[in-house]
Amino acid sequence: MLRVSDQPVLLTSRPRRLRRTAALRALVQETALRPERFVFPMFVRSGRGVREPIPSLPGHGRLSVDEAVREAESVVTLGIPSILLFGLPDTKDAVGTGAYDDHGVVQQAVRALRAALPDLVIITDVCLCEYTSHGHCGVVRDGAVDNDATLELLARTAASHAAAGADIVAPSAMMDGQVGALRRALDGAGMSQTAILSYSAKYASAFYGPFRDAAGSAPQFGDRRGYQMDTANAREAEHEIALDLAEGADAVMVKPALACLDVISRVRRAVAVPLAAYNVSGEYALVKAAAARGWVDERAAVLEILTAIARAGADIIVTYHAKEAASWLAQR
Ligand code: PBG
Repeated sequence: MLRVSDQPVLLTSRPRRLRRTAALRALVQETALRPERFVFPMFVRSGRGVREPIPSLPGHGRLSVDEAVREAESVVTLGIPSILLFGLPDTKDAVGTGAYDDHGVVQQAVRALRAALPDLVIITDVCLCEYTSHGHCGVVRDGAVDNDATLELLARTAASHAAAGADIVAPSAMMDGQVGALRRALDGAGMSQTAILSYSAKYASAFYGPFRDAAGSAPQFGDRRGYQMDTANAREAEHEIALDLAEGADAVMVKPALACLDVISRVRRAVAVPLAAYNVSGEYALVKAAAARGWVDERAAVLEILTAIARAGADIIVTYHAKEAASWLAQR
């Protein structure tokens, strides 16, 4: 028969001492989530009074500019200071004209948001894939994305976003030299105060599926492995980030977040600039789908995921859960 001894065991260290009460646990907590560090992604489209639900991104919709302003007001009310804008143009073409149209949907949204919410931090995604008929992130020549021909179009896109009032432009096309091209275009147009957050280490990920549903931006042929990074590579992320910093990036990003916690942690050690991580659409959808079936406790799962991303070293977290997470944090 098993006998449990009542003799005290002498241990030099008992980590449980500091886990005994909620106040002790709070005292020694290493990572705190702050809504000030969240960025809320939004999709804008044409029209008025439109909130078109996105089935694979429950709770998110394709919003007309007036609805985007209302949504941003609720974001700010929750203590989240910044949004990331994606545009859904009415028509697409081979060269993504809608991206750099001064009257394009993102440019209109930026002007309206800037007027309604002067303190809102407006970040715009700079890429062509939402605007091209073939769904690739740049100009296609001979069946491949032409890097250098794409740079000029990305630079024009960023300059038009900045002219509309964006605080930060975020190039996500993974073209070589894109940060330098944007910096030169911005400075040349007198917009030296517009910051660049580069999607420096952006992997060719299976977790962008719901985003591509939302934007109708899945590549019509091939895939993005000719420009986005291979999941197997971590050293290469440091190389990409070093290049972007040399070209003038103010802040850098690792994407996706949950599948790249090691990369976030590694980059955090390597650079001093602010580091963002993008908790992408597929990562959001997994949690939403499981929560809808009662298979995970959504609130606990989301806060655990966001805390893990912050613990890995991200300063800024882009997440579709931002509003829910901010309201849960305010309650506890
Ligand atoms: C544009 C872009 C994408 C995402 C952000 N910017 C799509 C892609 O690369 O296919 C994905 C974001 C998400 O999945 O939440 N290139």
